Amino acid sequence: MEFKEVVGRRRSIRFFEPDRPVEREKIQKMLEAARLQSCAVNAQWARAVVSFRDDLKPDQLKRLLTPVAALNVEMAPVHIHWFNDLSIVNKIQGSRLRELVDVGALAPTHGWSHKFVDEFVYPQILKPMTEGPAYPVYSTFDVGMAVANALLAGVDEGLAVCMVTLNGEVLKEVFKTPAEWIPMPTILVGYPAENWDGGGQRPRPPFEELYFEGEYGKPFPRDPKVVEQLKAAKMIQEPARPHSPERIAEIKRLADKYGLPM
Ligand SMILES: Cc1cc2nc3c(=O)[nH]c(=O)nc-3n(C[C@H](O)[C@H](O)[C@H](O)COP(=O)(O)O)c2cc1C
Repeated sequence: MEFKEVVGRRRSIRFFEPDRPVEREKIQKMLEAARLQSCAVNAQWARAVVSFRDDLKPDQLKRLLTPVAALNVEMAPVHIHWFNDLSIVNKIQGSRLRELVDVGALAPTHGWSHKFVDEFVYPQILKPMTEGPAYPVYSTFDVGMAVANALLAGVDEGLAVCMVTLNGEVLKEVFKTPAEWIPMPTILVGYPAENWDGGGQRPRPPFEELYFEGEYGKPFPRDPKVVEQLKAAKMIQEPARPHSPERIAEIKRLADKYGLPM
């Protein structure tokens, strides 16, 4: 699929075919995409535990359910739980930056050398950063970047994906993760039981409210010609409409099929 169409087709699918397994290779492709994402100082904070729902004990699955993510967790055959490994920066102590120097990604033209990493960047920037209160926030940004790549790779493989936020303490216990790993949101993966388009692209605030040029308050102008190009490339698709009779009928069909309340 073309990149723009992948971006346009991604949406949170909350009705999965519960008994249709996902090929392991597709899960691997999602993880491979996550690993290739850009990451500050190439540290790689993102960690994931892949959990095949049917390998969980019934009480483990029950503990994962939350008020805003219960049915979709039960329906999705695969869950990819993400974590932020806060220990990584002090474990690697600049070694991944030295690797970047060695392969010429960080070049001497820009002031990079092993000495610069060992005597300045690690001790004076990175180590103090890990001791500051904003460290979990910075590193969470990197995990989000990796997760976004995994989501798009899943869509490209024809899968249905949905992010959910589960109970972090439960995730740590059930998956026995190291103490330094902070639980992050989870990707639910499966094949859609609903139409892949989920009723259309979900509502967003207007472009001009979100993005600015030069300074805050001056919207970055949205060129309608570009919008048309992106529609042709299937990145901008039909929006989901409130109270659409087709969407209501589809939810009813799914409710009947799976014995769900409506
Ligand atoms: C970090 C994150 C956490 C989310 N947690 C949940 C959740 O717990 N339950 C849920 O139903 N959707 C969750 N979502 C999905 C959002 O609600 C969804 O992205 C939003 O409805 C916009 O729709 P779209 O993803 O279909 O474009 C989460 C999304 C993100 C990025």
